[in-house]
Amino acid sequence: MIKYLPLKSINDLHDAEIREAMNRVLDSGWYLKGEATRTFEQHYAEYIGSRHCIACGNGLDALTLIFRAYIEMGVMASGDEVIVPANTYIASILAITECGLKPVLVEPSLDTLQIDDALIEQAITPRTRALMIVHLYGRCAYTSLIGDLCQKYNLKLIEDNAQAHGCNYQLSIINVQSKKTGSLGSAAGHSFYPGKNLGALGDAGAVTTNDDQLADVVRALGNYGSHQKYVHDYQGRNSRIDELQAAMLDVKLKYLDADNQRRKEIAARYEREVSNDLVRIVFSDRNSVYHIFPVFSPRRDELRQYLADNGVETQIHYPTPPHKQKCYKAWNHLSLPITEQIHAQELSIPCHQALTDEETTRIIALLNAFK
Ligand SMILES: Cc1ncc(COP(=O)(O)O)c(C=O)c1O
Repeated sequence: MIKYLPLKSINDLHDAEIREAMNRVLDSGWYLKGEATRTFEQHYAEYIGSRHCIACGNGLDALTLIFRAYIEMGVMASGDEVIVPANTYIASILAITECGLKPVLVEPSLDTLQIDDALIEQAITPRTRALMIVHLYGRCAYTSLIGDLCQKYNLKLIEDNAQAHGCNYQLSIINVQSKKTGSLGSAAGHSFYPGKNLGALGDAGAVTTNDDQLADVVRALGNYGSHQKYVHDYQGRNSRIDELQAAMLDVKLKYLDADNQRRKEIAARYEREVSNDLVRIVFSDRNSVYHIFPVFSPRRDELRQYLADNGVETQIHYPTPPHKQKCYKAWNHLSLPITEQIHAQELSIPCHQALTDEETTRIIALLNAFK
C-alpha cells in the first residue's frame, strides 16, 4: 500500500537529530517558555522574513489570537466583517466566528483554487476590517490586486499559512525578488500539525507579524493575558508551544526547503506525466510547496476507490465546505457553486518527501489508466 502521508517515514528522515533534540529538552528539566521555544521563534521569524514569531498551541489558536489582539487594540469590534475564501479548512472560519466577527464568504477561482480576487471588492462594506487569504494546498493566494485593495480600503491582511511553509510570492519576475507567504500581510497564522510541511509530533502553531504592538498583545493573550507573572491585562488563554515541539521543529526547519524541493519534483512529474480527461490538474507555479497535490474528477469517488483497490491511499480536502456544515446552520442554504464543485471533485494524491520515484511512477500509471 502506498500511504497518503506516512508520518513515521517522513520523521525517520531526520530521526537521529530529532531524538537528540528531544533528549536535550528532557535533560534540561525546562518544558515550557524556555530556550528551545526562543530559538525556534527566532529561526522561524528569520525564515519567514518577519520581525516577530510568537509560537502557540496550534494553527487555529494562532489565527484566533490575531483577531483577539486586533479587538483588544480597538482595530476590530464585534460584528465587524472579515472576507475569507469559501473553500477553506473550517479552522480559518472558526477563528473569525470565535471572536464575534462575521465571515463574508467569497468564491474561489477554478484556475487558481484560491479566493477569486476579482470578487473581493464587491464584498467590501463599511464594516469590513480584514481580508483573510488562505494559501490552500501550499499555493500562494496573494496577488497584487489583493495588496492594492487592502491599502485602498484600509483592511488588515491576515494570511492563513497553515499549509504553505516555505512558499514564495514573486515580487518581480525581472529581478526574481520574492517574499515568503506569512510575511505578505499584517499578520499570519501557521499550523505545525503533524501532517503539515513543517510538522510537529503533536499540536503547535505560530503567529508571525512585523507589527510590534500586535506581537506584544498576541504574546500576552496566549499566556493568560499576561506580560508579567500574575499581572493580567487581558482575559487571555493558555496557548503555548511545548519545548519538545519547538526543539523538534527547529531541527525540521533546517530541512524544510529540501523537503519542499522533493515535493516539487514529484509534483512536476504529476503535472508532466498525468494525462487523462477524467483527472484534471490545476497547474501552479514553481513557488507552490505542494502541501497537497489535488486532482479533480467528476467521478472522484470512483477514482478514489480504484486507487485504493490498486494500493494507493488518498484523501479528500475537504468533503464538505464550511457553509454546508451543521455548525454554520445559518449558511446551509447558501449556494456557492464553485466551492461546491471543488469539494465534490477534489482528490488528494500522495506528494511528500518520503515518496519514492517508483511509487510516483506507479501512481501516474494508475491515474493514466483510469477509465
Ligand atoms: C488552512 C488551515 N487553517 C488552519 C488550520 C488549523 O491548524 P491546527 O490544526 O494546527 O489548529 C489548518 C490545519 O489543520 C489548515 O489546514
